[in-house]
Amino acid sequence: MASSDAGENEMVVTPWEVRGKVDYERLIREFGTQPLTEDLLKKMSKYTDKLHLQLQRRVFFSHRDLDTVLDLYEKGTRFVLYTGRGPSGPVHIGHLVPWMFTLHLQQKFDTRLYFQLTDDEKFLVDDEASLEETRKFAYENALDLIALGFKPENTFIIYDVEDIDLLYDVTLEVAKRITYSTARATFGFEDSTNIGWVFWPALQAAPCFIHKKLTGENVPALIPAAIDQDPYWRVTRDIAQKLGYHKPAQIHCRFLPGLGAGGKMSASMPETSIFTMDPPDLVKRKIWNAFTGGKGTATEQRKTGADPTVCSIFQYYYYLFEEEDQRLTEREHACKTGEMLCGECKRDLAERLNKFLEEHRKRREKAKDKIVEYHIKR
Ligand code: TYM
Repeated sequence: MASSDAGENEMVVTPWEVRGKVDYERLIREFGTQPLTEDLLKKMSKYTDKLHLQLQRRVFFSHRDLDTVLDLYEKGTRFVLYTGRGPSGPVHIGHLVPWMFTLHLQQKFDTRLYFQLTDDEKFLVDDEASLEETRKFAYENALDLIALGFKPENTFIIYDVEDIDLLYDVTLEVAKRITYSTARATFGFEDSTNIGWVFWPALQAAPCFIHKKLTGENVPALIPAAIDQDPYWRVTRDIAQKLGYHKPAQIHCRFLPGLGAGGKMSASMPETSIFTMDPPDLVKRKIWNAFTGGKGTATEQRKTGADPTVCSIFQYYYYLFEEEDQRLTEREHACKTGEMLCGECKRDLAERLNKFLEEHRKRREKAKDKIVEYHIKR
């Protein structure tokens, strides 16, 4: 993992913790993944027409075997999508980043999505969590997923605790082939780690292979997620072929930052995260308090301009809330030259975000009536 013995400001990226300034080039080197190249993106755009914004802007920046999956697809072998969520609390807009891209892939490739809600993982990992709580959040989080527009015919939600009978045999096959020493080296387990957690990675591996069991079709899984989940795929890829499956492929995104200075948006820092259920006034207040690249006074900023490269607000436009490249460039220019001050930029963003969230919540409410249609055991 990168890197367990780090000091306060050093980069740490694990499935359970992300802190410090994230150096994505270094992660590619240390995790041994591949950068997304122009050639590969060209190949992708053969199937998606226009490249998705998150590819164009390299929000998705790295992969494993995406080229293999596309080559197989060209020759007639389809793939399935797999991603998930650890239901430890409400969904924030950082979680929506990989899910929106997953939706795009589902629509363009007309392919199945398996979505795992790991109510068991969050119970095991968090000393305070109860199973009742994580199961409740699994339901709540599924509503957010459905609200994005996934179609039930192609979407199969797995609630680990409830659906363990479907996963268990595949999980055992995986678990038997991963040694404790590999798991410890990959996940940083310690003597005090509970044994449920030590076994648990086999459960996150299982949905990579579940499609064959359900349909008889042996096709690869492609996993869109932020790069923090990569350690799971390293161990899973090592054993996949021994079990007669394709190695699961990945496409990795960067972290939508929080509203503070540096760091990813994280539910453990609610004051710098925007949750989908945050009411409009709270969204405004959080945005108003956000860290920007602005100067001490308006006069100074008008004279010397501000720095969008360190500004959390600018990142929200970049990742999600300004789809027009031209307008993004204009906003960047207006910021750098001092034409637009932080107050105006924050007000615009709060408005866009609240409009988006209002629509999202309407669709989320409607999702309550059809959530059963998405359950893998429908
Ligand atoms: P979890 O709940 O930590 O995160 C859910 C998904 O959101 C991504 N993510 C982010 N993406 C962009 N910006 C952020 N600030 C941000 N924070 C989180 C995560 O990478 C993840 O894709 N163990 C997993 C649940 C899981 C899973 C999977 C995830 C089970 N199977 C397969 C991805 C793929 C977890 O706790 O995710």
